[in-house]
Amino acid sequence: MMDASILDFGTGITKIGIGGDADPLHVFRTTVTDGSVQGKEDQVPMKNGNVSNWDAMELIYTRSFELLGEDSTKRPALLSIPPMGSKLDRETSAKVLFEKVGIPSLVMVNNAELSLYQSGQSTGLVVNLGHGTTYVAPIWEHNIFSHAITHGGVTGSDIDNFLSALLNSNENAHQVTVEEARSIKESGACYVSQDFDDELNKDRTEIDLSYELPDGREILIGRERFLSCEALFNPEYIDKDSPPIHKLICDTVSRCDINIRRNLYSNIHIVGGQSLSIGLIERLQKEIQKKVPQSVEVVINAAENRDYAAWVGGSVFSQLSTFKNMLVTKADYEEKGISVLQNTCGV
Ligand SMILES: Nc1ncnc2c1ncn2[C@@H]1O[C@H](COP(=O)(O)OP(=O)(O)OP(=O)(O)O)[C@@H](O)[C@H]1O
Ligand SMILES: [Mg+2]
Repeated sequence: MMDASILDFGTGITKIGIGGDADPLHVFRTTVTDGSVQGKEDQVPMKNGNVSNWDAMELIYTRSFELLGEDSTKRPALLSIPPMGSKLDRETSAKVLFEKVGIPSLVMVNNAELSLYQSGQSTGLVVNLGHGTTYVAPIWEHNIFSHAITHGGVTGSDIDNFLSALLNSNENAHQVTVEEARSIKESGACYVSQDFDDELNKDRTEIDLSYELPDGREILIGRERFLSCEALFNPEYIDKDSPPIHKLICDTVSRCDINIRRNLYSNIHIVGGQSLSIGLIERLQKEIQKKVPQSVEVVINAAENRDYAAWVGGSVFSQLSTFKNMLVTKADYEEKGISVLQNTCGV
C-alpha cells in the first residue's frame, strides 16, 4: 500500500504531507487569493474550525493535491477532524475527497487524538491553542472523552484582532492591519507576562520596542506586547464571553473520573501555533497550580514542533499496523454512505 496523504486543514494554516515523514511537506495559509481580480480581498474559507465557504475550501483541497504531486490522488488519505467539527463538514470533505479528488480510501481521525500521537503517549490532556479553535480534550488509553471536552477560549485570530485594535488606538501614526498584527505577534515581539501587575508597573523604557513593518514603516509597540497575549488568561480584555485557558483546563479535568484527574494534570500536552508565545507555558503552569491542591503535580509537555502536532501525530498514526484496516474504501463509502466514516477514531 502507498503511504497515506496526511491532511490537516487548520482555520489559519494548512499542513499536508506524506505519512511516515517527520514533517509536513507543505505548510501554507488556509486562504484563497484571487490574483486575477485586482483589489479583491483574500477569502478565508474556515472559521473556528468549521468551513464557512465550501467553494473556497475546495480550492484549498485542489491546491493541496497539486502540491503533493500527481501520485497523491492514488494514495489513501488521513484527514484530521477538529473535535467540534460539524457533521456537514465531514460529509462534504468525504464527498470532495472521493468524488472530486478521487482518492481510493479515507480515514477521519480526531485532531486531539492525533496530537497526542506526536508525544507517543496513550493518555494525556491535549490543550490546543490554534488560529480558530482553543480546546481542551482528555484522552485515556487512546480514547477521547468527548463529554469532557471544553472549548470557546480566546484563539490566535482573536489575539490578532485585539493587537491590531490596541496598536491603532495608541500614538502610532500608522494604521496596523490584522494581518500585520499577526506577523508582529509571530515575530516574537509579543509575550505572556509572568505577573501582569508587575509588568504594568515596569518602566516604559523596559518595554517599548520599535518594530519595522514589511513595507519599511516603523511603529512603536509598548504594553501591547503583553496586553495582547493576556487575553488568553483574562478574556474580558477583548470583551469576549469566554473562559480563561486555565479555567477550561480545570473544567475539563473536573468532568473526568476522580481517579484519573491527577494523571491528567501531570500529562498536559500543549499544541497549536498560538502556544509558541513566549512565556506561555510558565504562566499557564502557575495559573493551573493556583487552582489545584499543592499535592497535585502539574506537568506541561511542549514539543518543539507543537504547531504541527496534529500533522506529526497523523504521520505516526498512518504507520501503525492497524491503519490499513481503518481505511474506508471508495466502494464502501458509495455503498453505505458517510456513516462508515464516523463513530471511529474520535469522530
Ligand atoms: N511564534 C508564534 N508565536 C505566537 N503565535 C504564533 C506563532 N507562530 C504561529 N502563531 C499563531 O498560531 C496560529 C496558528 O496555529 P495553528 O496552525 O495551530 O492553527 P490552525 O491549525 O490553523 O487552526 P485551528 O486548529 O484552530 O483550526 C496563528 O494564530 C498564528 O498567528
Ligand atoms: Mg489546528
